[in-house]
Amino acid sequence: MYENFDHDKYARQQKDDDFWGQVKRTVNGIPVAEVQIQIIENTVTQHLGLNNKYLLDFGCGNGALTYRFADNYERIIGIDPSNFLISIANKYFAEEKKFSFRVGESANIAEILDLKERIKIEHILCYGVFPYLSQTEIDELFAEFATWPSLEKIYLGNLPDYDRKENFFTEYPKPEHLLRNHTSVIGHWRTLKQYMDLFKRFPEWEVCRVNTPDHFYASNYRFDLLLRKRSA
Ligand SMILES: C[S@@+](CC[C@H](N)C(=O)[O-])C[C@H]1O[C@@H](n2cnc3c(N)ncnc32)[C@H](O)[C@@H]1O
Repeated sequence: MYENFDHDKYARQQKDDDFWGQVKRTVNGIPVAEVQIQIIENTVTQHLGLNNKYLLDFGCGNGALTYRFADNYERIIGIDPSNFLISIANKYFAEEKKFSFRVGESANIAEILDLKERIKIEHILCYGVFPYLSQTEIDELFAEFATWPSLEKIYLGNLPDYDRKENFFTEYPKPEHLLRNHTSVIGHWRTLKQYMDLFKRFPEWEVCRVNTPDHFYASNYRFDLLLRKRSA
């Protein structure tokens, strides 16, 4: 269960409308409060801004978080490898024409999005997903992103901080083998420095740490990153 975590299978075991439970946005098994979701919404909006054109939400899950950015974009495309989570997104969050939710992953992203879309995407949101990507997937994605002419910002949210792992594993021994494993239940934990080193592979991106407020439930063991395209 902890190694080789299956996001799709886990989500199928939750109730159809337990949107935060399906994506494990829980504390002690209880979905986080609405005020916490608003903090995510506000923090992301503060960094990506209002009145934008195209957003790609990569690893959008069931679309419940994606939906929070409806007012900020003309068009929003969500991609996730889980058939079940995409079915929930299409059932509950795709009413407005501006949304499109599709099953996909890094390996086929260029086929999932047509050229007209790829050339218009300005922002990518990748919230609670990046720690689950292998190095190959990261390389595939950034190679593809490098060909998208309008892409300006990438927001990586909810990254578990290896330097602050003690804040999360207060009562249990730290499962070191899981912390280095992108297929584990919580994904690959990295330090800020490890992220900075990782993104040296993609020098076209400037990387800044985003601070979440102290009263955000995950602030003591997670951080966010904003990547901005350096001007040519
Ligand atoms: C914690 S959920 C976050 C969902 C959504 N972004 C949110 O914040 O509500 C993690 C999501 O990452 C997706 N995921 C896991 N591994 C992935 C991969 N290798 N490529 C793309 N998405 C992946 C899962 O299917 C799941 O929907």
